[in-house]
Amino acid sequence: MLRMLSLVLPTYNEAENIPELLPQIKKVLKKVPHEIIVVDDNSPDETWRVAQELAHNTDNVHVIRRIDRRGLSSAVIDGFLAAKGDVLMVMDADGQHDMEKLPELYEAAQKNNGIAIGSRYVKGGSIGEWDEQRYFMSRMATGLAKKLCKVQVQDPMSGFFAIHRSVFEEVLPRLNPKGFKILLDLLVHVPKNTPTSEIPFTFGTRSHGESKLSRRVQIEFLEYLYDVVLGKYIPLAFVKYCLVGSFGVVVNVVAFHIFSGFFNFSWAVIAAIETAIISNFWMNNVWTFAHVRLKGRAILMGLLKFNAACALGGLANYAISTYLFVQGVPSLVAVLIGAFTSVLWNYTMNRIFTWRA
Ligand code: GDD
Ligand code: MN
Repeated sequence: MLRMLSLVLPTYNEAENIPELLPQIKKVLKKVPHEIIVVDDNSPDETWRVAQELAHNTDNVHVIRRIDRRGLSSAVIDGFLAAKGDVLMVMDADGQHDMEKLPELYEAAQKNNGIAIGSRYVKGGSIGEWDEQRYFMSRMATGLAKKLCKVQVQDPMSGFFAIHRSVFEEVLPRLNPKGFKILLDLLVHVPKNTPTSEIPFTFGTRSHGESKLSRRVQIEFLEYLYDVVLGKYIPLAFVKYCLVGSFGVVVNVVAFHIFSGFFNFSWAVIAAIETAIISNFWMNNVWTFAHVRLKGRAILMGLLKFNAACALGGLANYAISTYLFVQGVPSLVAVLIGAFTSVLWNYTMNRIFTWRA
């Protein structure tokens, strides 16, 4: 019996591509029982509207319009969650993935009950026309990514693949839907004996519009690698928090230098500390805790909590280092332990109270 295929098309500003793509897919999948799920992140070019209009005339095209969310990985996951099929598949909605390979990918995943990948890096596949920089970046990223996968494949960063529902459902709770690398994330979390096969294809050129693989997406990829390798020992947010804190020391010194031109020593010290606190708060808000960033009036409340946590951290720092020093611990060691404990303290307090995840 033929099992059903659910094809997810993630879209962001693909209004020009979708109307060309859908009829072509229908033709290619004539013999395969299937549904198509467009997952659009409320594109400014109203891709969702275009897709909804096309979906009106057929009963197997569905559109999910997500509000206030962005990200290729999470869009694909949401699409898979809404799917009815036994074989789940994803393809770029811009014509870059060779849709003639759809039936082959579907059959491969239905046969191996695992994952079938449209691969640029096996014999017969190619990246098509890429500039040197993109080629280099892709090879680097692929090299790093391969080291993390539970099962070895040549193209773990492909955005063109099919996966059996049972495998997807098994790994689902472990996925980390940040950024673009949905296939890599699946390969990092599947059981070691998951069957995979790779089907070569040539990565085409975009029909219309431009790539959404921004600098930001590239940084998210590096963060993802950190999360997988070290994240369970030292959370990435803590590393960022420490970096912000170190930079805060610089801000503190520079601010003191400036304020001491206007105020006496004590007031200059106080003003410099508060300047560093405000600048640390701002950097933590836009960077360390970007995923739960405070906006509007919540910023003021957050800044108050941040001040409170830092003040208590300072007191703890003072109490601990003084205690250790009195106990006979060398002064430098006592000060270091005090400082580190207070960083841990105010990181934890801020994570819990200021930026509630
Ligand atoms: N819903 C949603 N939300 N869709 C998105 C988003 C988003 O935030 N970002 C991108 N997409 C959609 C695009 O509209 C397109 O259909 C597809 O995801 C791939 O995005 P592109 O912007 O075309 O990516 P690319 O062609 O540069 O990158 C391709 O190659 C990479 C490997 O080199 C993709 O196939 C990637 O998945 C792949 O990792
Ligand atoms: Mn593309």
